[in-house]
Amino acid sequence: MSAAPVAARPAPAAPLLAVRGLKLRFDTRRGVVRALDGVSFEVAPGECVGLVGETGCGKSITARAVMGLVPAPGRIEGGEIRLDGRDLMALPAEEWRAVRGSQVAMIFQEPKRALDPTATVGSQIVEAAMLARRIDRAEAKRLALDTLRQVGLADPERIMRTYAFELSGGMAQRAMIAIAVVGGSRLIIADEPTSSLDVSIQAQILRLLQDLRRRLGSALILITHDLGVAAENCDRIVVMYAGQIVEQAPARELFRAPAHPYTERLLRSLPRPGRDALSPIPGTVPDLIDPAPGCRFANRCERAGPDCAATPAMSEIGRRHFVACYRPVRPT
Ligand SMILES: Nc1ncnc2c1ncn2[C@@H]1O[C@H](COP(=O)(O)OP(=O)(O)O)[C@@H](O)[C@H]1O
Ligand SMILES: [Mg+2]
Repeated sequence: MSAAPVAARPAPAAPLLAVRGLKLRFDTRRGVVRALDGVSFEVAPGECVGLVGETGCGKSITARAVMGLVPAPGRIEGGEIRLDGRDLMALPAEEWRAVRGSQVAMIFQEPKRALDPTATVGSQIVEAAMLARRIDRAEAKRLALDTLRQVGLADPERIMRTYAFELSGGMAQRAMIAIAVVGGSRLIIADEPTSSLDVSIQAQILRLLQDLRRRLGSALILITHDLGVAAENCDRIVVMYAGQIVEQAPARELFRAPAHPYTERLLRSLPRPGRDALSPIPGTVPDLIDPAPGCRFANRCERAGPDCAATPAMSEIGRRHFVACYRPVRPT
C-alpha cells in the first residue's frame, strides 16, 4: 500500500524561539514568589517582538530565563525553552555559555553597569567575538572595529581603548550593542535599552537596533514598559501581567483592537495628539506570593465580574490575536 501523495504546502516557518509553559519561582524568606506562571510565546526568525507590561510583571525574568541567567534564588520549575528546536533547558552549563553570545545575546537597561568597569571596551568586544565565533585575536579585533563602526561610534580605534566610565550613556549603550551583536546571534534581547538614557538619545538607539536587525537578519525581543515604544518598533506585541501573558497580537491589531482590559488601559494611558493621556492604572501589580486563583488583573479591572474568579484560558480571537479574558473589550 502506498501513501497518498501529500499536497505540497509551504510549511509554517519554524519559530526561532519557542517558550512554552514557563514557570519560574523564587524561594524567599517571605514565601514562594511565583514570578512566571505558564508563559508561552514564540519569536520567528527576523521578527521584532515587543514584551510589554508594568514593572514587576516578569519581563526581565523571562529574558534572563531565555539567556540561562536566572538570578539566585530563582529556579525554573516547569516549561520549555527551545531555540531553533534545541531544548536549552537540557543543556549543561558550559554549552549554554556557548549558546550565549553566538545564538542569543542581551542588551541591558543600564549599559554602564552592564559593561565591565575594569576592562576596556575593546577587550570586551574582542573576547565576545573570539568566544562566539571561535576566531583568533587578530580577526576578532578587525571584527570589533567594524562592529563599533556599524553601531555608529566614530573613531572606533579610540573607543576600543576606553573604559565604561569614560563614555556617555548613549555611547556606552552603543558599545554594549556592539558586544551583543559581534557574535552573530540570531536573537537579540534588549531589556529596556533606552530607559536610562536621555530622551534625545532614546530614538537614536531604537533606530540603531532596527537598522542592525534588518542588516544582520536577527530577531529582536524589545522589552519595554512603554506600549508606545513597542508599537512603533515591533511587528508583534506580547503583553504580560503579574507573571503571565494576557494578550498577544500583531502590533497594529493590538492598537486597533486591544481585547484585554489591561492592554486597553495601558493604551489609554499613552499620550496622543489631541487627547490627554489618562493617568496610570490605579493600584499595583499584585504580590506574587501565593497569588489567588482567577484573573490577576481583576482587582484593578473596570470590567471585572464574578466570572473572573476563575482563571481565564488563552483563546484566539483573530488572526494571530490571543487573549486570556472572560470579558474582553469589543472593538467599537
Ligand atoms: N531576586 C529576586 N528575588 C525574589 N523575587 C524576585 C527577584 N527578582 C525578581 N523577582 C520577582 O519577579 C517578578 C518579576 O520581576 P521582573 O522580571 O524584574 O519584572 P519586570 O522586568 O517586568 O519589571 C517580580 O514580582 C519580582 O518581585
Ligand atoms: Mg525589568
